[in-house]
Formats: sequence, C-alpha cells, structure tokens
Amino acid sequence: MVGIGPKQPPSRKGSMHELPQDLLQHIKRFEETFTVDTAKLKEIVKHFVKELEKGLTVEGGNIPMNVTWVLGFPDGEEQGTFLALDMGGTNLRVCEITLTEKKGAFDITQSKYKMPEELRTGTAEELWEYIADCLQQFIEFHHENEDLAKLPLGFTFSYPATQDYIDHGVLQRWTKGFDIDGVEGQDVVPPLEAILKKRGLPIKIAALINDTTGTLIASSYTDPEMKIGCIFGTGVNAAYMENVGSVPKIAHMNLPPDMPVAINCEYGAFDNERVVLPLSKFDEIIDRDSPRPGQQAFEKMTAGLYLGEIFRLALKDLLESHPGTIFNGQNTEKLNKPYLLDASFLAAIEEDPYENLSETADTFHSQLGIRPTQPELEMIRRLAELIGTRAARLSSCGVAAICTKKNIESCHVGADGSVFTKYPHFKARGAQALREILDWAPNEKDKVSIMAAEDGSGVGAALIAALTLKRVKAGNLAGIRNMDDMKTLL
Ligand code: BGC
Repeated sequence: MVGIGPKQPPSRKGSMHELPQDLLQHIKRFEETFTVDTAKLKEIVKHFVKELEKGLTVEGGNIPMNVTWVLGFPDGEEQGTFLALDMGGTNLRVCEITLTEKKGAFDITQSKYKMPEELRTGTAEELWEYIADCLQQFIEFHHENEDLAKLPLGFTFSYPATQDYIDHGVLQRWTKGFDIDGVEGQDVVPPLEAILKKRGLPIKIAALINDTTGTLIASSYTDPEMKIGCIFGTGVNAAYMENVGSVPKIAHMNLPPDMPVAINCEYGAFDNERVVLPLSKFDEIIDRDSPRPGQQAFEKMTAGLYLGEIFRLALKDLLESHPGTIFNGQNTEKLNKPYLLDASFLAAIEEDPYENLSETADTFHSQLGIRPTQPELEMIRRLAELIGTRAARLSSCGVAAICTKKNIESCHVGADGSVFTKYPHFKARGAQALREILDWAPNEKDKVSIMAAEDGSGVGAALIAALTLKRVKAGNLAGIRNMDDMKTLL
C-alpha cells in the first residue's frame, strides 16, 4: 500500500509490469513530472500561508485576498425573496430563491442558459446584452407586469474583483479563458444595471458575489461547522471568514477589529512568481499560450479547464520527442488542436471499469481517430491518473494553507465545482493529501473534511443579499455604496 491513512484511492500502477520497456520509460518520465510528494506539498503550504498573509497587507501580493463586505454568517432566520444571477465559467443561471420561515429552508426556481463560446472573447456589450436577455426571459415568464423594485438581485460574478462596497466590483483581470475587452479595470455593476433599466427592468443589484463566498455562506446556513467555501471547477478558489483586525489593508476604515468579514482569496493566483510550484514544461506551454500569461499559476495546474490540455500536451510531446514509439504511424493530427480535450475526457479514462480499458479505446477512437494498443492504453490510463492526482493533491494545499493560517484544527469545508463533483477519485486523493500535509495519525479520522456544498451561486447569493439588507436595516453601513439606494429594497 502506498502512503498512509484509512482509504487509498485506486491506482493502475500494479498492472504495468508487463509493458514493453520503452513504454515503461515514458511512464516513468510522466511519473517524475507529475508526482508531488508529501515534502513538496508541505513546502507549498508553507509558502501558501505566507502569501495569504501578504495578500491582506496594504502592499498586497500575488493572491488578491479580496474583501467582500459579507460581514458574518447567516443565523438561519433570514427571509425574503431574491433573484440570483450566476455567471460561472460555462453556464449562466437565473434563480429566484425564497428563504422561508422554517430555519435554514428555501424554495428555488431556476433556469440555466449555456454561455455561448464566442462570448468569452467577444465585446463587453455582447456580454451584458446576453445576460440581460436571459434575465429578461426569466422575469417575463415568472413576473410579468409585476413591480420589481423590491426584488433584490445577488449577482454571482466569479472572477477576481476589488470591492469598495458590496454592490460594486472592479474586475482585476479575466480568468478561466475569458478575454472580453473593456471590462478589466471597470466596475461591472453599473453596466448591467444600466442595460436592465433600458429594458424597463429596474432591478437593483444588492450584492456582487464570488461563487466561493456564496458557497461559504450557503454551506454555513445548514452546517455551522463550515469554515471554508471552495470551488474546484473550471477555475479554483476559496473564501473564508477573517476578523477585520487581521486585514491591514482596511485598517484605515477604523471598523471594529473583531467584526467578521469574508475574504475571497482568489488563490488561483498563488505563486504567480513561481517560487514553489512544481511546474512542468506542459504547464509552461499552457501559461504561455493563454490569454493572460503569468497569471493564475496555481489554477492552471489544478482547474478543470486545463486538465485535458495538460494531457494532450503530454501525449503530443511524447509523439514529437520519440516519433514512432506510440500509435504505430496512425494519423494523430487531431491531437494538435489546443483545448480539444476537456476534463471529462480524462474523467472517462479514469472511470473505465474494464480490465482491458475497452471504453478508453472507444473514446480514443471516436474523439481522436486513434486506436491504441493494449500497452498504450495502460500508459494513457496512468497518465490520466497522474494528472488527476496531481490536481487533487495540489488543490488540498489551498485548504491546508487557510486552516494553518487560521489555526483551524478541525472543520468542514464546503466544496463545489465540476471537478469536485464529477472527477473520479478527486475527493479521496485530496483527503489523502490533507492527511499527509496536516500530519494526522494513521487511524485518526479526517479532521478537516471537504464535503459537497449547498448551492453557493444561487442560495448563497440570495443569503448574502438578505444579510446585506438585514445589516443596512440594523444600521451597519460598512461597505454600502449608497444607503438610500439600498433602503429602497427594504
Ligand atoms: C476565479 C474565481 C472563481 C474561481 C472558481 C477563478 O478563475 O478567478 O473568482 O471563484 O475561478 O469559479
């Protein structure tokens, strides 16, 4: 058995002994490239803790550590009806959420719209028009001819944004492959409110929210042990609750030092300086060819958007550096297309239940037009396993760093995102890495447990809007842009 701990994620390492020597050599090289041992994980976490601290200072650092103006957890008594708009990486979702009288309960109605691929690199106007179209469709269906003035909107905008107020957010930079001109450096709230107004939809954005903050708040609504909200999806990130007194960059505001404030870490940007991450040449290529080279170093090694691309680059490199050793002269042209393979391709390989990997063989043939031999299939499976394992182990470093920084010995971590919910063995591999980093005794149960979160971008957004209005009513106006505006929602 490899490593320690109660449950080991499965591995095909044992089925490799009969492979030809040259394939074994290639596998060995992949193992050297993608394996992150315990010592390295610990080294990464040590640096990560320092970088989280640095992000809270006036000078700042790589990790933005954005102040969200979410000032505390819900108590379960929140009530009311709210709209939530969720602009994630792949879909756009419009929800209506009613927080009901029963403590911690809610009703939700929602519609999902696919974000057209072209929007990612289109114009700002196209983006806002598209969002307004979806919202309008939803409103016309559910609220025709109703007064919308008292229906607050929580806008989940899951990109790094500097917030001077809760209903304000200047996009620092696009992530997750987005590259829309004219939005970076701008407050994203006014253009959306303006376009809605122009369409006769006078909806007020009560709060701009990150998916991680939404996840933290939604999860803590039903489980008070939740201390961290994480996303492991197209992008990666986490949020946690800090004390105002530990955030030097807002010291000038003279707020009560023990007041809680949620911090959206934006830790996908961890180690942009490249001090400690074990970058491979494939990670370097991904970064070089991305719309924002030098940014999101940690995200580019761990997030769903990049896993399939790392795999494609590794295979392509093998084909180029050792011509003829794999795929026996077959046409491999399809492998030349960047981002052809997504994380679900890798997930399918790792999930293939058959000893002879026949599903992997079918997938390779249908998507790439390649028929690998049996030993090649073994190599392919091992490569997928190595890339998926590296992502899971590195992902745990962010969680371990927040726990270490906050002296949290045990807690629940609410997690969401396609990699967390769909990628095989991600949870077990991540849990194993946490065990190694945090030195739990071999038979001790997990003290920090990463578990499926409540819907952060929907319910979390509604709760944050509710919390905001509740504190405005109570006279806590920290991070409120325009009190009169907010009061119209009460
Ligand atoms: C964004 C974060 C977001 C994360 C998960 C990252 O690319 O910068 O704001 O929380 O993806 O969606």
